[in-house]
Amino acid sequence: MKKSEIYVPFVPTPPRVVGCMLDMANVGRGDMVCDLGFGDGRILVAAASPPYNAKAVGVEHDKKRFHDAKRLVKHLGLEKSIELLYGDIMDFDVGDATVVTAYLLPNANDAVKPKLEKELDTSARIVSHDYQFYGWKPSKKQELIVPTPWTFSYVPGSDKDAFGISHHYVYLYEMSKIR
Ligand SMILES: C[S@@+](CC[C@H](N)C(=O)[O-])C[C@H]1O[C@@H](n2cnc3c(N)ncnc32)[C@H](O)[C@@H]1O
Repeated sequence: MKKSEIYVPFVPTPPRVVGCMLDMANVGRGDMVCDLGFGDGRILVAAASPPYNAKAVGVEHDKKRFHDAKRLVKHLGLEKSIELLYGDIMDFDVGDATVVTAYLLPNANDAVKPKLEKELDTSARIVSHDYQFYGWKPSKKQELIVPTPWTFSYVPGSDKDAFGISHHYVYLYEMSKIR
């Protein structure tokens, strides 16, 4: 695969944040949800499952994640609802998506922004975890505080999990308000 314009490491979106993203985009049965860099496939699996029951498609360039997500989708019997593509975000046509989900980084959002503007229908929504698309005004922004497990392995003799918290932000953009 050629070198990508985008480099973003795998960091999974916590389940509560996934639900918030799909709720904010008002995902439902008629939608086609596209996750840019699907990681372990969790956003696509949630989108294709109740209560959302949407179709879902995503692209991922990490071979291991791609194969793990393939196995998960097969295990859950969701192959008819979810299409997983191995490749680069920049080579993937998002034109059929009604909802795009992204958990990338600011420079990656900058790189995909012209592509989204060109390819998406006016009715499409975009939800971004933690990072804004600069130059677009979000229709909605939500903050979530999520319990996060940390292992304090530096505590002598302790291998117990303790809980911390992490702050997350979700931004909703509507193409109809951007164009
Ligand atoms: C922060 S993780 C988010 C994973 C998942 N979307 C989620 O929210 O749980 C970003 C993912 O994008 C993938 N990725 C990064 N750059 C990519 C590119 N140029 N093409 C395809 N996938 C990419 C990474 O391998 C990683 O799995």
